[in-house]
Amino acid sequence: MRVLFVCLGNICRSPTAEGVFRRRLEARGLSHRVEVDSCGIASWHQGKAPDPRAVEAAAQRGFDLSTLRARQLNAEDFQAFDFLLAMDHDNLSAMREQAPEGMSAHMGLFLEFAGLPDKAVPDPYYGGEEGFEEVLDLVERAAEGLVEEIASRREACR
Ligand code: 4NP
Repeated sequence: MRVLFVCLGNICRSPTAEGVFRRRLEARGLSHRVEVDSCGIASWHQGKAPDPRAVEAAAQRGFDLSTLRARQLNAEDFQAFDFLLAMDHDNLSAMREQAPEGMSAHMGLFLEFAGLPDKAVPDPYYGGEEGFEEVLDLVERAAEGLVEEIASRREACR
């Protein structure tokens, strides 16, 4: 199972989702079953570490984002991943425009897994510290839901 988190710059929301989701998988003993990555629609921050505000806010909750590096969404991603999960509606539209016909992967909004259909993770880049706390609150909830979804699929396959 392969999961890709997608936002605009890949320096705030999707690396936060990647770091939080990895930890939740570890806690559930599912790390070896699931590959996780994140990327951005835009190439602006390619190769860069996450925004220091995102790294700091995540570290306060015990998540290490410091080793992650930004990259842009590419054509292979649509074949390589089973779940491509966007942080907001713009990310999802951009992803859908680039997606090849007939692909079988699930493309949707990440917060579906928090029981919040149609809700976006707000872009915190131009705001204050509180925006990064809100990102973490939402991402932690959705990560929990996604881990449960994956765990229940595993049960069903036994
Ligand atoms: P992200 O946030 O999509 O959550 O990584 C942003 C990062 C950078 C920019 C916009 C959003 N930017 O305009 O550079």
